[in-house]
Amino acid sequence: MKQFLQFPQAFWWGAATSGPQSEGSYNKKHESLMDYWYRTTPEDFFNQVGPTVASDFYNQYENDFKLLKEIGLNSYRTSIQWTRLIDDLEEGSVNPEGLAFYKKIAQEAKKNDIELVFNLHHFDIPIELVQKYGGWTSKHVTDLFAKFAKCAFENLGKEVKYWVTFNEPIVIVEASYLDGHHYPKYVGHGKEAAQVMYNLALASAKAIQEYKKLNLDGKIGIILNLTPSYPRSEEKEDILAGQIADDMLNRSFLEPAVLGHFPPRLISLFEKEGILWESCEEELQIIEENKVDFLGLNYYHPNRVKAPEKEVKFPPGFWLPLNYFNAYQKPDIRMNPYRGWEIYPKAIYDIAMDIKNNYGNIPWYISENGMGVEGEERFLGKDGIIHDTYRIDFYEEHLSWLHKAIQEGSNCFGFHAWTGIDCWSWANAYKNRYGFISVDLNTQKHTIKQSGRWIKNVVEQNGFESKYEL
Ligand code: BG6
Repeated sequence: MKQFLQFPQAFWWGAATSGPQSEGSYNKKHESLMDYWYRTTPEDFFNQVGPTVASDFYNQYENDFKLLKEIGLNSYRTSIQWTRLIDDLEEGSVNPEGLAFYKKIAQEAKKNDIELVFNLHHFDIPIELVQKYGGWTSKHVTDLFAKFAKCAFENLGKEVKYWVTFNEPIVIVEASYLDGHHYPKYVGHGKEAAQVMYNLALASAKAIQEYKKLNLDGKIGIILNLTPSYPRSEEKEDILAGQIADDMLNRSFLEPAVLGHFPPRLISLFEKEGILWESCEEELQIIEENKVDFLGLNYYHPNRVKAPEKEVKFPPGFWLPLNYFNAYQKPDIRMNPYRGWEIYPKAIYDIAMDIKNNYGNIPWYISENGMGVEGEERFLGKDGIIHDTYRIDFYEEHLSWLHKAIQEGSNCFGFHAWTGIDCWSWANAYKNRYGFISVDLNTQKHTIKQSGRWIKNVVEQNGFESKYEL
């Protein structure tokens, strides 16, 4: 039986992207890690497409905001590129041309009645800081980040009311230092990974401290990707494996951001493994005192885990969490074959309940959720638009679980899809498309898809008729 699901008043219906994935690298002051990685190793990127043009937001932002408005969105997240806003990275001085661009973005959002969320970091550290200082392994870089943040708040903090310090910091830890997916593609650099984890939480707290000093009329948070762990069985070993995976992948940033300290079990584990970060009282106090006002949570897929079956011996200096939890290949799961991610909408409800029960029901929103599909031109109709009904089904099912959580008291104030306009996505480049609006890479023409018409309808009604019985 179908049921109309009404969402709370003033609910955010929007989408997210990032500077490096949408703007194109035109007129930047510095190269980011991603720019450099592409310039030096283009073969690492799908079809050798890099961030140079992306979805041409730098040139098309006026038209893009019109399209976002046309599909009804009332809020939108993008990121300020450190490499565009800042002139001198050591001083954190402003690059006037970069600032002028971000001012235009803020004005354009306002003109279209779209609440803008500015993020400060989406995997795009300036490469100079990686080469000179070792990137996020360095405490000095956390100070430089705070200077960049201060510059952004001072110059744009009156126009823009919602800020986030980082997008998915755990991805930096995992992809650059543990599994080799992102430049510098280190595998098993456990000690550095742990230090990067700590430094990113510290950098976020330092940025929040700068924001609070300015007494601006706005709010600041962080965007975390949560992959809730589901153990293979009820056996105590599997349950413990699930808890440790959660500590490492989810709570490592959730706890410092919301509670002001790191998960004690994770600290003991890192200590036992000889990879615990270097910290001091003064830094721990900064983390303790500068918690977030709200959370943005990205949800794509769950994490199926099991206890390790045998102990793995690592060579000196190498560490991965393999002796604590292993991936579990659960039979009979639904998959998105293009991305290789499991589709499990109920996890959105489980996340909401975890935040309600264990994190003081802090205000939060879904800051990314979406389905990447390869070869979407197959679905191009005679009417010239892409008929992405699979995406509509995906969203309706996830939103039904989110609605249930809100009914049960979760303090969720919005839903942002990934993404508004198809965008470039790191090594996957334009392999999988996620947008409500398509991008023709040959012409850079942006066209609303069927899902764009669907979301407009959802926003107008502040809800939708759901076929899902939960
Ligand atoms: C999210 C990131 O985790 O996943 C985005 O925040 C990214 O930056 C998105 O684009 C989709 O990733 P992919 O690899 O499937 O294109």
